[in-house]
Amino acid sequence: MKSKTWKKVDHSDLRNKVELRRRFLPKDARVLDLFCGRGNIYERVYKGNVLKYIGVDKNIIHDENICVKTNNIIFVTKNNINDFNVFDLDDYGSPWKVLYLILRKWIGDKATFFITDGLVLSQKLSNKVTKFVSGTEKIPLRMKIPAINRFYIDIFSTMLLDIQKRYNVKVEKAFYFFNEKKTVCYWVINIKKIFKNI
Ligand SMILES: C[S@@+](CC[C@H](N)C(=O)[O-])C[C@H]1O[C@@H](n2cnc3c(N)ncnc32)[C@H](O)[C@@H]1O
Repeated sequence: MKSKTWKKVDHSDLRNKVELRRRFLPKDARVLDLFCGRGNIYERVYKGNVLKYIGVDKNIIHDENICVKTNNIIFVTKNNINDFNVFDLDDYGSPWKVLYLILRKWIGDKATFFITDGLVLSQKLSNKVTKFVSGTEKIPLRMKIPAINRFYIDIFSTMLLDIQKRYNVKVEKAFYFFNEKKTVCYWVINIKKIFKNI
């Protein structure tokens, strides 16, 4: 009998992720794909359809001519990201840290974020308040709240209010759906920078 080798599956719901991006990709997209991996989304959505594309991944890249193998936090910290207007954050976990970092640095007019957020799963498993949620909701770090996952959408919405205030942006659109098991949430967020007259 042969034993099967199970590979880590990159996409629990690739079809839906692709559909989301096809539907909401702006016409003049310049994409920074910060969890590019094997390029499944790139192949199906971005290839040949965007004005500019760079992929970043710390473990595996799909084309060394258009991708950089590094940690995305390092990439965003060290590079000028102002020319991009689409940020693809297809994380296995929850990409809030890199989202905040982008918003802190980025100077542009409008941007679209595609976000794969697994926070709801870690909430289900631990019931704990994470560092970012502690900051945005003003509740003690690692406090246990039974069934905190039921408040996932409210918690994400508070985070959107926080980025609006903190980084002078207006969230113009926030559309989401869950995978079947309700362990991952897929988002598209459209933001507009508000430049204040001094
Ligand atoms: C869900 S997969 C991405 C799949 C990819 N979007 C595709 O279309 O094929 C998540 C990827 O994030 C990468 N990753 C996780 N943390 C990272 C980090 N801090 N910096 C860069 N890549 C990271 C992993 O190596 C993995 O390839």
